[in-house]
Amino acid sequence: MKPETTLRGIDLSFAGVPEYERTKHVHRLHPYLGKFIPQLVEVFLRTYFKTGDSILDPFAGSGTTLVEANILGINSVGIEISDFNCLIANVKIRDYDIEEVEKEIRDILYKTRQFSLWLREKQTSFAHSGFHKYVSDSEYLSEWLAPRSLQEILFYRSQISNCKHQDILKIILSRATRSARLITHYDLARPKKPVYETYWCIKHRRYCEPVQECLKFINRYSWDTIRRLREFAALRTDATMDIIRGDSRQVQLERKFDGIFTSPPYVGLIDYHDQHRYAYELFPFEDNGKKEIGPASKGRGYEAKGQYQKDILAVFKEITSSLKPEAKVFIVVNDRDNLYADIAEACRFKLQKVYHRPVLKRTERDNVRFSESIYYFTVGK
Ligand SMILES: C[S@@+](CC[C@H](N)C(=O)[O-])C[C@H]1O[C@@H](n2cnc3c(N)ncnc32)[C@H](O)[C@@H]1O
Repeated sequence: MKPETTLRGIDLSFAGVPEYERTKHVHRLHPYLGKFIPQLVEVFLRTYFKTGDSILDPFAGSGTTLVEANILGINSVGIEISDFNCLIANVKIRDYDIEEVEKEIRDILYKTRQFSLWLREKQTSFAHSGFHKYVSDSEYLSEWLAPRSLQEILFYRSQISNCKHQDILKIILSRATRSARLITHYDLARPKKPVYETYWCIKHRRYCEPVQECLKFINRYSWDTIRRLREFAALRTDATMDIIRGDSRQVQLERKFDGIFTSPPYVGLIDYHDQHRYAYELFPFEDNGKKEIGPASKGRGYEAKGQYQKDILAVFKEITSSLKPEAKVFIVVNDRDNLYADIAEACRFKLQKVYHRPVLKRTERDNVRFSESIYYFTVGK
């Protein structure tokens, strides 16, 4: 079957869509490697589903499908194994009293600024830049953050338990911590080791210094979060959005769905827990990394591919019983090993169309050529 590269006249590479549109409103509440471009989800949902339908995303990640479905009045359920990804998705989809949220975010920001000033004074008056108030129990955080950043982060964290919107504040702090890590400006997504010295920055074409403070990021992301939540609040409809935290090979679903729109992990490409390691070190999230399907840590060998195929098949077999007879199944995947033909056959999915798209601007530096297919199946009798 010859793949199509456009849908309703829209070029599926979305090459002309600027960064601010790709990361619009809640889609950039927190960076996430391996996320859908929202425009892709939108054009497929708009074409193949209608207001009032219900769809499922068994690999919900940061919740892009749910947000885009809601804007179109489509009900949605997402399943996701990683606690932190569920947190990102939940913060995106919850309906907040934004004035109340803003007040709380401003309040904790103000206190963190005061703390930072106090810390600076102490360090100057004792002529001791190593003065600190908090001690981290995480080796990772001590290694990847400058002492000043770490103190600001630990202060902010200590304030969260007194607050009502703890989930939003955890997202702001995780995002700020990610940016404050001792890494180069050009490798935020997959840094290998901390950088302590001045380095030649290939992004800015000059020498840059590793970041020494976190406050500026906490400040930036506080205002950014308020703005993004406000923007989505103006777009959201009454359609329902639910995240189930769990393993999609086993989750029991109570509803019937008009379809699936999902992007499974690709074999041996990304460790979805590990990419947010800083968040798992900051907060006591459960680490379900071992239950991830197709993690990068297992590689792309023969055995890994076989296991991947079995796992993906288990997911689709499990959820097929929750599909209505006319359901449409969309799977977005880089299927370079051609694993999905067998999976589809075993699930009795009938291939209707294949779309193909080059993927651009995947991460800050990673502008390499990469492509993915969008398989459109219907459920066989
Ligand atoms: C390609 S990402 C999906 C990204 C999503 N489309 C978005 O826009 O954010 C695949 C997701 O599948 C999740 N995952 C991996 N194994 C899983 C399992 N057994 N059950 C549920 N989710 C799983 C990963 O944690 C990851 O978030």
